[in-house]
Amino acid sequence: MSDLGRPEDFSRLPASVTLDGAPYWLVRNEEGGYRLLSALCPHAGGEVRVYEDMFLCPLHYWTFAQTDGACMNVSDERLMQRQVELRADGRLYAVGTDF
Ligand code: FES
Repeated sequence: MSDLGRPEDFSRLPASVTLDGAPYWLVRNEEGGYRLLSALCPHAGGEVRVYEDMFLCPLHYWTFAQTDGACMNVSDERLMQRQVELRADGRLYAVGTDF
């Protein structure tokens, strides 16, 4: 479990987060909660970046939804994700492993 900080520490989302030495984006999920999406593209490992209301991989231009990381070009592809919990102490924690 990794402490990501307080929600108010992030002035806007998606927010770039480094976890275990790897790049992620902290995003809002469909229910208004939080989620980490890996910034590494499942195609060949390019680092995705925010482009308008989605993520864009600069290597071959796959795009991904900002809520759940679903690939908008290739069905059945998506960014890896990790669960985030807002705990009673008011801080966000990354829990579990990528899936
Ligand atoms: S590595 Fe991301 S689209 Fe190819």
